[in-house]
Amino acid sequence: MAVAMRLASSAFEIREKAKMARIEIAVKGLFATPVAAVEMPGATTLNAELEHIILRRRQETPSVQASNAGGWHSDRDILTWGGKPMAAVIDVAKGVATQMTADRSGRPVRPVWTVQAWANVNAAGNGNICHYHPGAYWSGVYYVADGGCAADPSLGGEFEMLDPRGPGPGMYAPALKFAGEDGASVGSAETIRPRPGLLILFPSWLFHQVRPYRGTGLRISIAFNFGVGNSGVGNSGDAGAVEA
Ligand SMILES: [Fe+2]
Repeated sequence: MAVAMRLASSAFEIREKAKMARIEIAVKGLFATPVAAVEMPGATTLNAELEHIILRRRQETPSVQASNAGGWHSDRDILTWGGKPMAAVIDVAKGVATQMTADRSGRPVRPVWTVQAWANVNAAGNGNICHYHPGAYWSGVYYVADGGCAADPSLGGEFEMLDPRGPGPGMYAPALKFAGEDGASVGSAETIRPRPGLLILFPSWLFHQVRPYRGTGLRISIAFNFGVGNSGVGNSGDAGAVEA
């Protein structure tokens, strides 16, 4: 009897100690989605020039209809009419894309990026419906003017990215998320508030949209697709692709 009591007491102590112990858990954030944000050097000067070029083009040519819900969407040849400031933006973006790309062994590569780029001008009520950019590797946006979005969140106009893992556990327990920084968007979405000079780069397959702008100014952005050219590091590509 005394032996049985001692054993029971010992098992109890072990369970209590286990409860008290801090359990070390190795967690790996698998399948993360890289989204880069860069402040463009010399943005103030570049943006003044780009705004002038884009608004002049807007007066001269009708809008293309793509993902834009209202607003003006230029043709996709902005590199032919955007001049040196546009080339400067794309050069920086190419550098970011190259830094964010590696071969399957993780070694640096220098792809020859093919480029398509266009401008978007959103006035009050304009946005972009949910879409992705087929036929490209990286896509990105550069903000020329934010229409006051950065200073006043009530003006909307956010760039919104949808969790590529779908609704995830949010559809079962929407009050929960995976613990840790990487789990924040489970079952939800992440937003980036535009501000002049901000360049973002994301995988072309990432679903995204632009929330309606509710200010009285103009929200001006440049969007672009980078495809992998005939550089020996992937499939040879053409001039990229259009956004869906
Ligand atoms: Fe897009």
